[in-house]
Amino acid sequence: MAGGVSLATNPTTAVELAPRHPSGLRLKNPVMTASGTFGYGTEYAKLVDVEQLGAIVTKAISPKPREGNPGPRTVETPSGMLNAIGWQNVGLEACIRDYAPIWRRWRVPVVVNLAGFSVEDYRTVAEALSATPGVAAVELNISCPNVASEGTPFALRADLAAEVTAAVREVCEVPLIVKLSPNVTDVVEIAAAVHAAGADALSLINTLVGLVIDTRSRRPFLGNVTGGLSGPAIRPVAVRMVYEVAKALPGVPLIGAGGVMCADDALQFIMAGARAVQVGTASFVNPRAAIEVAEGIEAFLAREGVADVNELVGVAL
Ligand SMILES: Cc1cc2nc3c(=O)[nH]c(=O)nc-3n(C[C@H](O)[C@H](O)[C@H](O)COP(=O)(O)O)c2cc1C
Repeated sequence: MAGGVSLATNPTTAVELAPRHPSGLRLKNPVMTASGTFGYGTEYAKLVDVEQLGAIVTKAISPKPREGNPGPRTVETPSGMLNAIGWQNVGLEACIRDYAPIWRRWRVPVVVNLAGFSVEDYRTVAEALSATPGVAAVELNISCPNVASEGTPFALRADLAAEVTAAVREVCEVPLIVKLSPNVTDVVEIAAAVHAAGADALSLINTLVGLVIDTRSRRPFLGNVTGGLSGPAIRPVAVRMVYEVAKALPGVPLIGAGGVMCADDALQFIMAGARAVQVGTASFVNPRAAIEVAEGIEAFLAREGVADVNELVGVAL
């Protein structure tokens, strides 16, 4: 103590995202990467020390490899970007063969994001990955269209979201995170349904559907017509949704995502009720963004005399 100011020199930054799960999901700091913006981790491992992250979330994995949508697949927008990658990925088999052995050696939990077009797709991938050493947890990207329900994304209807969550829960041995879409009227309804169906934690938000028209060609700019809006433009929407879910479902572990560029942004999510955050679009600007967010949170705690980051979770509620 100096001059009455308490300085927590070594604040605790560890967070637990799956307290009800036997193996838990403990992160050494509350900063994760966001799916689709950090590859399989291996690409960035050449540039940054990935073991300084709280966790890595991979690009979505589907049962079979996918080439994704026709280009252009990304376009810059004010304070953000639109993307329509279309779940391009190496597929389950290559994921298990080529990447999991690398993840197993890393001292950072790797969470695999899952994509599927049917309940069976999700079950197949979740079952195989949850039995694969090197996979610490899975995150269901339920924004994929469900072929059995005329292409309605699972994330948009509470019954579909709960159905896929419950089906995966049955076969999934590792902690299960379900990622929510912002493209709904009432995110709390979906969050409650998914949690009741067995999700250990909820991540929110995925991208907002947007459209950019190229006025020279007079056509939609993206090959897929619409795309997902990410980056700082969506942050206030994301913070509001975390806040609403945290208020309605106290104690449910939440992971905030949407436009986190710096520690202050991450702290907004934490104060709104998130135990952890994901850094996405920012990694395209600066590959060290997520690590710098983690360092910035620790510096904030030390400066403010907060001994444990968990003390800040939901303080704004
Ligand atoms: C290029 C790109 C690809 C993405 N791919 C996925 C994906 O495969 N699965 C998923 O759940 N979310 C995906 N997302 C959404 C992000 O994980 C994140 O939820 C969203 O971008 C908001 O965070 P941000 O503003 O920090 O980017 C993708 C986002 C971008 C920009």
